[in-house]
Amino acid sequence: MLVVAATASFIVTIDGPAGTGKSTVANRLAKRLGLEFLDTGAMYRAAAYEALRLGIDPSDGARVAQLVRDIEIRFDWTTDPPELLVDGVAIGDRIRTPEVTRAVSPVASNPVVRNAMVQSQRKIASLHRRLVTEGRDQGSVVFPDADVRIYLDARPEIRARRRVEQLQAKGIQVSESEVLAQIIERDRLDSSRRDGPLVCPDGADVVDTSDIHIDDVIDRLEEIVRARASAALAESEYGSDGDELNRTARS
Ligand code: DC
Repeated sequence: MLVVAATASFIVTIDGPAGTGKSTVANRLAKRLGLEFLDTGAMYRAAAYEALRLGIDPSDGARVAQLVRDIEIRFDWTTDPPELLVDGVAIGDRIRTPEVTRAVSPVASNPVVRNAMVQSQRKIASLHRRLVTEGRDQGSVVFPDADVRIYLDARPEIRARRRVEQLQAKGIQVSESEVLAQIIERDRLDSSRRDGPLVCPDGADVVDTSDIHIDDVIDRLEEIVRARASAALAESEYGSDGDELNRTARS
């Protein structure tokens, strides 16, 4: 009989506030290490986008809670990066507009929404077992036993500048001072909420990206992962017996 052993999991979490470059860094680090990439902010953004689309006030806790029970948010893992689908429909960059960014904090502080997202993220990790996952509660709440936990930080002014450049690249014009004010307000809300607040996870490696080029950030993170968990990374790739297919033949 051929028994296919469960692949050992390997999880790197990247927590930190908005605008530290988490998504870009996580995506590139995942590629560098041969892991998959999970953008959890996109899931909260999708819920906020759907609320706005359906005319639901993002602060109306009961209606937003019902909304996330009613819709299916999942990723298409065949695209790179994985594309987010709501009820099977790809919504692309519509989740990145300033309107959605404004609506997402009350949605993300809704305990029913958080609970649904956390369950869904753990389920994803049980299926996609070699993962870099980014989002402000990934190392602190969702995967506290992750192989490597990283906390990315950067000064608010730098984060605002980066966000403006990102939006401009997508043809969305915004004022930098408005984005800075939004970032400061979002940090305040995200750090002070009761459920899954923005905190630095226990034992996380802190990397301040303010004055480091993105390429150097990726190098630094790769160094951290390899220094902390190179054996676990190799085991997740090849299996503990070094068998590349991680299969165990038994009679
Ligand atoms: O990283 P981002 O800007 O795409 O995140 C969008 C919002 O979702 C932001 O307000 C924080 C929130 N969020 C969260 O509460 N928990 C996560 N794991 C990811 C994002």
